[in-house]
Amino acid sequence: MTASEPITYDTSRVTLVDHPLVQHKLTLMRDKATGTKQFRELVRELAIFEGYEATRDLPLEDAPVETPICATVGKRLAGRRLAVLPILRAGLGMVEGLLELVPDARVGHIGMYRDEVTHKPHEYYCKVPRDISERICLVVDPMLATGGSATAAIEYLREQGVRDLRLLVLVAAPQGIACVLDADPDVHIYTCAIDERLNDAAYIVPGLGDAGDRIFGTL
Ligand code: PRP
Ligand code: URA
Repeated sequence: MTASEPITYDTSRVTLVDHPLVQHKLTLMRDKATGTKQFRELVRELAIFEGYEATRDLPLEDAPVETPICATVGKRLAGRRLAVLPILRAGLGMVEGLLELVPDARVGHIGMYRDEVTHKPHEYYCKVPRDISERICLVVDPMLATGGSATAAIEYLREQGVRDLRLLVLVAAPQGIACVLDADPDVHIYTCAIDERLNDAAYIVPGLGDAGDRIFGTL
């Protein structure tokens, strides 16, 4: 593919979470003047919006309940349990928000860093729940740039037998989306923004800079 060729992918496998509040908060995150404390809070908040969309289809079952007025039948979550899987380190910033939505979810960690020269991911730590193959897995990372890290994380989870896998990112580059969808025929991506492109250092443009550094104050 040449640099000028448009990047195409199956848009039905991507959900753009573009609620007005999401767009407002994302602009605050993009602002280089936003400090660590506020940036961290915004990552947590946007994870809640994304988690809400990514769990829309969770199965329900009838649940009899006695209100102060009468007996009725409500709904409760049925069967399938969740796991939240942050790609370290920046993905950690999204965990708290998702656990506010689904407090019973298990948390697995996927340690991956991107080589600054080659931009290729290096796995350095992985610890996931033993019953991971039975769970709906929400892989979380604020940034989807080349797609190398997410693709490697998804490949690892498929090797562990995971079937239902959803990738939640806050900002995605078209290249990253295409890379992930090409590599895995079943994953669905949720993102708050699809940006223009990558620069020569494989950073997302306009993006928001280095998400890990901004979350943890290691700039
Ligand atoms: C960032 C980001 C993703 C990855 C995205 O992490 O959080 O994991 O880069 O880039 P890719 O799509 O090209 O793989 P980084 O490797 O900088 O590590 P960090 O989270 O420790 O900052
Ligand atoms: N990782 C980030 O944190 N930001 C980018 O723009 C690309 C990779």
